[in-house]
Amino acid sequence: MDKGLALPKDFRDLLRSLRMRSKYAIFLVFVIALVIIEKENKIISKVSDKLTLKQNPQILLDVNGTPPSLLNLENGSLLSLSQLDPAFLQIKSQLENVTWQFGGSQTFTKVQLKGPRRHVLLMATTRTGSSFVGEFFNQQGNIFYLFEPLWHIERKVSFVSGGASAMGSAIVYRDVLQQLLLCNLHTLENFIAPPPENHLTRFMFRRGSSRSLCEDPVCTPFVKKVFEKYHCKNRRCGPLNMTLAVEACLQKEHVAVKAVRIRQLEFLRPLVEDPRLDMRIIQLVRDPRAVLASRMVAFSVKYENWKKWAVESAAPIDDEIQKLKGNCESIRISAELGLKQPAWLRGRYMLIRYEDIARFPLQKAKEMYNFAGISITPQVEEWIAKNTQAPQDNSGIYSTQKNSSVQFEKWRFSIPFKLAQVVQNVCEPAMSLFGYKLASDPETLTNHSISLLEEQENFRIM
Ligand SMILES: *[C@@H]1O[C@H](CO)[C@@H](O)[C@H](O)[C@H]1NC(C)=O
Ligand SMILES: *[C@@H]1O[C@H](CO)[C@@H](O)[C@H](O)[C@H]1NC(C)=O
Ligand SMILES: *[C@@H]1O[C@H](CO)[C@@H](O)[C@H](O)[C@H]1NC(C)=O
Ligand SMILES: *[C@@H]1O[C@H](CO)[C@@H](O)[C@H](O)[C@H]1NC(C)=O
Ligand SMILES: *[C@@H]1O[C@H](CO)[C@@H](O)[C@H](O)[C@H]1NC(C)=O
Repeated sequence: MDKGLALPKDFRDLLRSLRMRSKYAIFLVFVIALVIIEKENKIISKVSDKLTLKQNPQILLDVNGTPPSLLNLENGSLLSLSQLDPAFLQIKSQLENVTWQFGGSQTFTKVQLKGPRRHVLLMATTRTGSSFVGEFFNQQGNIFYLFEPLWHIERKVSFVSGGASAMGSAIVYRDVLQQLLLCNLHTLENFIAPPPENHLTRFMFRRGSSRSLCEDPVCTPFVKKVFEKYHCKNRRCGPLNMTLAVEACLQKEHVAVKAVRIRQLEFLRPLVEDPRLDMRIIQLVRDPRAVLASRMVAFSVKYENWKKWAVESAAPIDDEIQKLKGNCESIRISAELGLKQPAWLRGRYMLIRYEDIARFPLQKAKEMYNFAGISITPQVEEWIAKNTQAPQDNSGIYSTQKNSSVQFEKWRFSIPFKLAQVVQNVCEPAMSLFGYKLASDPETLTNHSISLLEEQENFRIM
């Protein structure tokens, strides 16, 4: 059933396949793995005993509360957990001397809550409008919103391709995400390059896309002549003090994270079952033909091949087709799982189409807030009103400001029919699940009066 969930036959393969650029990253993975195993099975307690927490990572302290059942994969998808033992011994030597630099004295579990604290994950893939939809949460003054923090991990940790790699990255992304939702932003410091000094960094990816990182008191006085890679949009701030960011996060009522790097809903189960996180997962999908059209513009170089196929008669390379198929299938598999509403996910998963948000932004925003159990504020409504009816000449590729009800269909006139057909062939199962109609000929593709959108929203079950 779960073809998209390519799990390793042997965890050793996984560990071998993790090629870290950072010893901290290795350590993190190891710690995570230890937490998983120790808490769940105590199988390799002899290994973990040797390593026990001399390094004192906060990550373990956190788990002391209620251990999330990490790797709660049914029926031992990892095969026998006992196989992990030699694997850990093998890398143990590399790890013993690594110290876990950890700052701040916050205890991330002792937050005084005003009401129920919600943790929202906006789960998407690139070019699905996730920046735009993320703004719906960013604009709410009581939500601590992070824009794509997992970018740092992708940059810092490289995984050799293959099934084991998919699994390895999924584990790291997932466990860092968990820490971020708990406001433990210090976890991220291990992945930021160059590494922060004294918890100060000028390299927090797209800092300006998180209001919470740009308002007082996180916005410290601007320091002249200091290069700031990612700066705040409307004001100038000093380097980001992660300790202040953590404090701000703890102060806010809710936390929301947008991520395009989490591919499998199933992997998020430990977070959903973590009682500290009242998780809400919103999976955002978009017509894969539109996504391809948009990626060909935004990631022009990566999509050279596709552009060539559009004008030449040659058939697309199988490799690229497989990649596209993998993307569509992992989105579909996650959505199918979510819609099936297994007990652990009930009331915590929502599927939403970008096309519906583009056409009915306010209504959809209200539905999302309602689902999340968070009150929508006038600021959010104003932002939506202002940013969905904008003049159309606003064309920055990451722009969130657009006349959304016009924009969402533009791709139909930019994608060559040939490529649309390729997508249709490969992504048909996903398209049919989400209600994206196939175009049988170029005329249909470009005919304004023919909708390619199934209006039935019977798939959007909460
Ligand atoms: C796991 O095993 C149980 C009992 O053997 C079975 O009912 C269930 O369908 C299995 N789950 C998966 C995901 O294979
Ligand atoms: C471990 O760290 C200590 C203290 O920094 C150092 O003296 C020692 O050489 C290191 N050992 C290894 C194997 O790197
Ligand atoms: C960062 O903020 C914390 C908390 O206010 C403060 O104690 C620390 O001195 C700040 N760090 C720097 C380098 O300014
Ligand atoms: C946005 O598009 C809609 C639908 O075509 C149109 O009615 C509206 O006037 C447009 N708004 C602006 C500001 O261009
Ligand atoms: C577009 O589709 C409509 C409805 O099917 C049809 O009546 C019309 O002739 C089509 N227009 C073109 C230019 O093909």
